Amino acid sequence: MRSPDIPANAAISANAAIPADTLLPPKALRAALGRFATGVTIITCNDADGTPVGLTANSFTSLSLDPPLVLWSLRQASGSLAAFVGSRHFAINVLAETQVELSRRFASQQSDKFAEGAWAPGIGGVPVLAGCAAVFECAVETCQDAGDHVLFIGRVLRLADLAVAPLLFQGGHYRMLGEIL
Ligand SMILES: Cc1cc2nc3c(=O)[nH]c(=O)nc-3n(C[C@H](O)[C@H](O)[C@H](O)COP(=O)(O)O)c2cc1C
Repeated sequence: MRSPDIPANAAISANAAIPADTLLPPKALRAALGRFATGVTIITCNDADGTPVGLTANSFTSLSLDPPLVLWSLRQASGSLAAFVGSRHFAINVLAETQVELSRRFASQQSDKFAEGAWAPGIGGVPVLAGCAAVFECAVETCQDAGDHVLFIGRVLRLADLAVAPLLFQGGHYRMLGEIL
């Protein structure tokens, strides 16, 4: 039964619906996926020379509590792909609401993303960024092709939880936490 809070016309209308048997237009797919609110992370590792590598990612999600597994995905076309595929560890740095500029920098093609801001080497020498809401240091469990992305599953070896407000991303915009319902 429909919840009394949801108006009768809330379901997708016949006009807006995209029939399952047509090709999904990429713009419509992106827009619909963007309805889903996420946190924002910077995922880090080292390349073969030991140079720090990182990018902004919101594909991060929890996968399993026992064993403790998390996952995220990286574009096949990313300049960071070789570094992550060759690394035995990565760190998920969950951004605080004060870290929008850091997120923008790590979402850019800038060459030295680590020039500003404090970080320290964690497990496997992987950069752990200062001031994050939480950090999950992981060992790579599996890494496999998935469409135009590569799916990484990591086993959490160590975590930090700083209990500060996280940065959010929804509808193509950075946002802050709203009301508790
Ligand atoms: C909020 C946000 C989330 C993103 N999530 C991902 C992601 O999950 N996977 C991905 O491959 N790129 C993601 N990107 C894009 C990368 O951050 C961007 O392409 C970056 O330049 C990649 O670094 P590279 O130059 O090392 O390829 C995201 C960007 C933003 C702004």
